[in-house]
Amino acid sequence: MNTISQNNRVLSGMRPTGLLHLGHYHGVLKNWIELQHSYECFYFVADWHALTTHYEDPSIIGESSRDMVIDWLAAGVNPGSATIFVQSRIPEHAELHTLLSMITPLGWLERVPSYKDQQEKIKDKDLDTYGFLGYPLLQSADILMYKAGFVPVGEDQVAHVELTREVARRFNHFYGREPDFEAKVGVAMRKMGRKNARLYQDARKRYQEQGDTDALQIGRALLESQQNISLSDRERLLGYLDGEGRIILPEPQSLLTVSSKMPGVDGQKMSKSYNNTIALREEPDEVVRKLKTMPTDPARVRRTDPGDPDKCPVWGFHDVYTSEQTRAELAEGCRTAGIGCIDCKQHVIDAVLDELKPIQRNAREYLNDLAGVDSIINEGCEHARDVAQDTIEEVRKVMGLAGRR
Ligand code: TRP
Ligand code: SF4
Repeated sequence: MNTISQNNRVLSGMRPTGLLHLGHYHGVLKNWIELQHSYECFYFVADWHALTTHYEDPSIIGESSRDMVIDWLAAGVNPGSATIFVQSRIPEHAELHTLLSMITPLGWLERVPSYKDQQEKIKDKDLDTYGFLGYPLLQSADILMYKAGFVPVGEDQVAHVELTREVARRFNHFYGREPDFEAKVGVAMRKMGRKNARLYQDARKRYQEQGDTDALQIGRALLESQQNISLSDRERLLGYLDGEGRIILPEPQSLLTVSSKMPGVDGQKMSKSYNNTIALREEPDEVVRKLKTMPTDPARVRRTDPGDPDKCPVWGFHDVYTSEQTRAELAEGCRTAGIGCIDCKQHVIDAVLDELKPIQRNAREYLNDLAGVDSIINEGCEHARDVAQDTIEEVRKVMGLAGRR
């Protein structure tokens, strides 16, 4: 209920574990690029997260951090509108993680579904570590550090955002009670003007005494529309409205990414661990080779044998790339043996090459200007650090720690 996303900020991270492929592009990146138009976006290289699973051989992390940013940029992440940074270069994330760990019940982490799932699935690594158990909380620290209102995630990460909301709520519950809270609320209310203050108090009363949730919405809308009050006053007033105390760390919402499932060249989900990827930087000849050698419906042994698109791994690519009308024609051609698999695949080959061409051209430019890439990352880190330092100061203060004086 307490979903107050008073800010328009989006935060998301990606692990640097190798070159990006079409699965990343269709599953995550295209969405990131889209979000830049409507939100203030923070995108980061989650190198500490990668270490939670790749701690034995971290070389890939160092090697692929900058490469991953190059792929982001080449695909269309715009450093003029999104802040691009590297997690480990903002050590405040570690501090917030430590501080949040003090209030996080162990059971909350043990119950995160990915914890047991991954431990069962990934057998070649020992994931019985403190870092792996704590990794969703590290993610919470990433999100709360920027007071992000929205977190674009896939299905598997929704539970992590849910954990973040619970941790934020618990944090605000413990530390949102400033000793002079009521007095500060009074001052903030006066800044709204007499009429609005009365409307606000009225809404609060109706909500707290009668549980009137419409009144709660009215109160929130009223606060949203106030121009004269600072962000911290707004947070106090929001907290006073629903009885929670001041909201220091706002609860984020997930933005579930709806994307077409990108199959790999064997028909399973595209993933590096299945060795079935097409990298964003794949040489065009390789793209053609990988697609040409892709298996098709096993019933089509000869050109004259009819096939069934539902039994063909190539069809997953048509779902991503081919218009509905052409798909209908190709399906018909397949079922009647009117077309051969080579003709059918050619549509996919052309579409993939077309899609990759501008990305690869951009990537080449960035690769020729690594200093430029580094300065994009440096600037992003500086901006992120400014925001992170403000949050961590606030957190230190309410948790009884001496801030820098
Ligand atoms: N856990 C995410 C993943 O493994 C990456 C990530 C880390 C993230 N911190 C985040 C995503 C914060 C969204 C928000 O893919
Ligand atoms: Fe697959 Fe197309 Fe061949 Fe049919 S014609 S089996 S859909 S590649």
